[in-house]
Amino acid sequence: MRLIAEIEAEREALQQICDAQKTQRERNRLGQFATPPQLALEIARFALKLFSTEEKVSFLDPAFGTGSFLSALLQVFGTERIKRLVGFEIDRHYADRAARLWRDSKLELHTADFTKALPPTRRDRFNLIICNPPYVRHHHLPASDKSRLHGLARSTSGASLSGLTGLYCYFLLLSDVWASEGSVCVWLMPSEFMDVNYGVPLKEYLLTRVTLLQIHRFASEEVQFGDALVSSAVVCFRKTLPPKNHLVNFSFGGTLNSPKMLQAVMLSNLRADSKWNGHSSHETKSTPCARLSDIFEIKRGLATGDNKFFILAPEQVRAHGLPSKFLKPILPSPRHLRALEIKSDPHGNPILERKLFLLDCRLPEVAVQRDYPRLAEYLESGKHDVAKGYLCRSRSPWYSQENRPAPLLLCTYMGRSRTEDSGPFRFILNHSKATAANVYLLLYPRAELTQALKERPELARTIWRWLNELPPKVVLSEGRVYGGGLHKLEPKELGNIPADGIVCLLGTSFKNPSRQLHFFADRDFRS
Ligand SMILES: C[S@@+](CC[C@H](N)C(=O)[O-])C[C@H]1O[C@@H](n2cnc3c(N)ncnc32)[C@H](O)[C@@H]1O
Repeated sequence: MRLIAEIEAEREALQQICDAQKTQRERNRLGQFATPPQLALEIARFALKLFSTEEKVSFLDPAFGTGSFLSALLQVFGTERIKRLVGFEIDRHYADRAARLWRDSKLELHTADFTKALPPTRRDRFNLIICNPPYVRHHHLPASDKSRLHGLARSTSGASLSGLTGLYCYFLLLSDVWASEGSVCVWLMPSEFMDVNYGVPLKEYLLTRVTLLQIHRFASEEVQFGDALVSSAVVCFRKTLPPKNHLVNFSFGGTLNSPKMLQAVMLSNLRADSKWNGHSSHETKSTPCARLSDIFEIKRGLATGDNKFFILAPEQVRAHGLPSKFLKPILPSPRHLRALEIKSDPHGNPILERKLFLLDCRLPEVAVQRDYPRLAEYLESGKHDVAKGYLCRSRSPWYSQENRPAPLLLCTYMGRSRTEDSGPFRFILNHSKATAANVYLLLYPRAELTQALKERPELARTIWRWLNELPPKVVLSEGRVYGGGLHKLEPKELGNIPADGIVCLLGTSFKNPSRQLHFFADRDFRS
């Protein structure tokens, strides 16, 4: 297959040609307005976060056009993750050219009316549906179509739609029988349904039959996708019944993955709300329901008292004959750590070029002298300077270290912004048993997240991605800036970052967080 970048360039050119060959009226009649490539990519990236790494994708686009979502999907997920690709396009004008464009892919493109297509058997349903359905107003739908669609929507999704309903609502409801249990569904559609009477059955479906994750609205001052999208919304949900006390993310401005404003609204409050647009507009109050400190216990890393003395390379360990029982793996400083994910060997040691160990012994000096003469000799060499330092002097014995179990996640404690879009802080996912020094902040899941991770280990990775995709502005607004653009983030400041997005990812009822530090006796949940 040709490179996806080449196909995408060709697709964009093709889209322009196809659109130009049609009159505005013709395009209105079939709702032929393509998704901007950047937005298609945003949506695909959003979907990626909701999939576990190993999961294969069977994808459906019921209103295919030239395939903007297919292209974004292949760019973001990669071809090897794809199991099946299916599209429907009613208009030959687009379908024939699209079929040619995608001839080398797995795409099964049906030149047909999606609303008349026979749904698949349960086994053949799709786990990812992304669609920009035709925005065809009810007065352009023939009466016979209306009654057919009405009956179909009722039998497939249980919704009873009024005669004023636009085609896009039928598309969403009819796709229910194409979506597998747990599937991810993302719809780019007019936001109008959120506030009008004909939208009520669709809202009911979103509230009761699926788990509504996020509704994003675009800001008019940011026209990156063109003005047309100002009245659109991206509606994201998972096809599974909503958990109790579920929170829905309403976001506004910026992008779907990095919105300017985010508000989590209880599902039960949405039920009572006749108009949803207020939640996703400028008027949105951005007071978060949860902060990072509700989800993680955040601690600064170890202050050893003297890194040169207590943090040792394997050659030093060997040269001094230090016993392995007093050595713990420890991560190198961020300057020497480029990876954002720390893999582990079977012993829990991080797989890194630069291997380091923390010397941590709590035995009293007499016991060390009696049982571990080589260690006693090493400690003796630090007695005149290291032991007299401020931290060591206040500890007993002076060479013991603070208790910092290996954290699930780490955040670099200071840094400079690399570009406008990338913040100075990096979040690192740790699969190893390595701890870290105070150049990092350590994030330990609280009870609620610990429980969720036991059931869905892949959440660790999803949350880690979410953290790294936080808009730099959100993170920076909590920290401090020093001369030369150096940013620092203290545990409390990191804990203050709004974390409603994680609550939504948890997809569980989020109760009052328990404040207990989880000490990771059981570390099996990492993916
Ligand atoms: C809003 S465009 C989206 C195209 C493309 N997926 C994108 O996002 O760029 C909707 C597409 O649906 C097609 N369409 C309209 N009615 C349809 C139907 N009943 N069944 C299948 N496709 C339909 C239109 O021809 C148009 O290409």
